[in-house]
Amino acid sequence: MFQYHCLNPIAERGLNMFSEDYTKTENINEADAVLVRSARMHDMELGDSVKAIARAGAGVNNIPVDACAEQGIVVFNTPGANANGVKELVIAGMLLASRDIVGGIEWVAGQKDKENIDKLAEKQKKQFAGCEISGKKLGIIGLGAIGAMVANSATHLGMEVYGYDPYISIDAAWNLSRTIKHSKSLDEIYSQCDYITIHVPLLDSTRKMINKEAFDKMKDGVVLLNFARDLLVDEEALINALESGKVKKYVTDFANPLVAGREGILVTPHLGASTEESEENCAEMAVKELRNFLENGNIKNS
Ligand code: MLT
Repeated sequence: MFQYHCLNPIAERGLNMFSEDYTKTENINEADAVLVRSARMHDMELGDSVKAIARAGAGVNNIPVDACAEQGIVVFNTPGANANGVKELVIAGMLLASRDIVGGIEWVAGQKDKENIDKLAEKQKKQFAGCEISGKKLGIIGLGAIGAMVANSATHLGMEVYGYDPYISIDAAWNLSRTIKHSKSLDEIYSQCDYITIHVPLLDSTRKMINKEAFDKMKDGVVLLNFARDLLVDEEALINALESGKVKKYVTDFANPLVAGREGILVTPHLGASTEESEENCAEMAVKELRNFLENGNIKNS
């Protein structure tokens, strides 16, 4: 018999994968395993019963992995399980940064004179004109599951896609996405791409990797997308880059007081993986890994 504790209700979507050998406990310190989505676990004391933590998502920065390793707690994540959900939001972000869809919708919704809305719209529409992403250069930093999927979809939308990943050869990236044609260094991505999207984990080596030096190398009017982790971008340098026109738009999934409501920034409240399909895939993968570990001692990813 095993006991599990769920820190986020969303992680419960995979619970039908547990067999009758499992019971849920409200007390984290009597659980064999903990299921978590985004709850921060750094300040939680975990009892000796806890053998594993399964994160329904890719990033593990909400889990104190070093302390877990010392305590012998195995940490699982679910790489790739929500990649499609994130990819779709990244593509939407590129389109929203290029066409003033939100401004147009808000303008129509705010008009009182509904009778004459068609004539008013014809006069107004110039204000919402934008550009197309087709034919533009997209640089993808990080060619894991999400980066590869973005590459594939962006290519089908007519973009010229460049990829950079220090750990993946361009051949492996090609096998993943079947679309990345050009290998580029990071500097080449910065200096040549119209859109740059980041898909790397938050590590000491990647923290604030998009800093003043990086912005200085970018094209004027670049669109930067960050659906990975907010601390990858040095915010002071970002604000300066927006004010100088170096960055035309910053599209991010991480709301904080500095970016919320600021001109030139489009921000969503960490919605990348918030689709029915991604939530289910993540929770199911998390439960599968947990069961494989608790029942058979197998550790597939940790
Ligand atoms: C991830 O790391 O995969 C995402 O942060 C998942 C989520 O939104 O929960």
